[in-house]
Amino acid sequence: MISPVMQQDAINRKAWRSWGARRWFRILSDWTDPGEAAAVASVADMVRDEPILDVGVGGGRTVPLLRRVSDDYQAIDYMQEMVDLCSRNHPDVRVRQMDARDLSAYADNSFGLIVFSFNGIDAVDYPGRQAILREFARVLRPGGRLIFSSHNMEGPSYRETLTRFLQVPRWSNNPLRFGFNVARIVVNLPLAAINYRRNSRLNHEFDGYAVRVCAAHKFGIVIVYTELEHQRRELAEFGFETDAVYGNLDDQPLAAGQPLHDVMWFHFVARKP
Ligand SMILES: C[S@@+](CC[C@H](N)C(=O)[O-])C[C@H]1O[C@@H](n2cnc3c(N)ncnc32)[C@H](O)[C@@H]1O
Repeated sequence: MISPVMQQDAINRKAWRSWGARRWFRILSDWTDPGEAAAVASVADMVRDEPILDVGVGGGRTVPLLRRVSDDYQAIDYMQEMVDLCSRNHPDVRVRQMDARDLSAYADNSFGLIVFSFNGIDAVDYPGRQAILREFARVLRPGGRLIFSSHNMEGPSYRETLTRFLQVPRWSNNPLRFGFNVARIVVNLPLAAINYRRNSRLNHEFDGYAVRVCAAHKFGIVIVYTELEHQRRELAEFGFETDAVYGNLDDQPLAAGQPLHDVMWFHFVARKP
């Protein structure tokens, strides 16, 4: 029998490999949200011109955004398809195929800043996530910063079900546009239903985090959702201090006791002491 961990990896790789995902990653170019921009701005002056490792680079959305901080920039992704896509989009950038769970190609204390953006770490199974944090703690220099985003277990994405795909098609006076809106629902709903049913089998809640099918890619990915305090504690276990946590909704760090029900995901800004 295939273990749930292997299944999660296989399911997510299939989703990244899909035509839709590659097309999407090819055209993305800006910050995902104000919280991401603020998280990077909060560390920019502390790691200016230092080596940056951009993990899970996808099509290279973050390449120009992070090169504003330092030109000493390199990226990795474990999917060769993404490495090729990023290299095509940014021919002057060093991109290597590498799994973040094993960064043995890099010496200890190599980087001033490591970024794993757009909740990429959530797609990795939980033991893999811990291996990644251990590797980040090793290859980051003392005083270096780590930024990554992760889905909020109390947030709207965690509550999403198939009803998300049960929409009335958006009206348009342009018959072609309206036909497209109808076709999109007719095609997406059965695909989402099949994925939802199949991938929900991996849903499981643990103490402080959960593994659950996510509506992105038509319920085609299974990801880790975390509670804010759980992730803070886990970062501390791997030797990090959390400087700040931003939500996706605005550019202000989350305050203690702030309601988190509308926050889709967090941007953690952590430091290796
Ligand atoms: C949601 S995409 C984000 C892409 C890009 N960082 C962005 O923000 O547009 C997640 C990316 O992480 C990569 N990824 C997932 N697990 C990985 C791992 N263990 N090691 C390296 N890359 C990984 C996937 O192949 C995918 O390209």
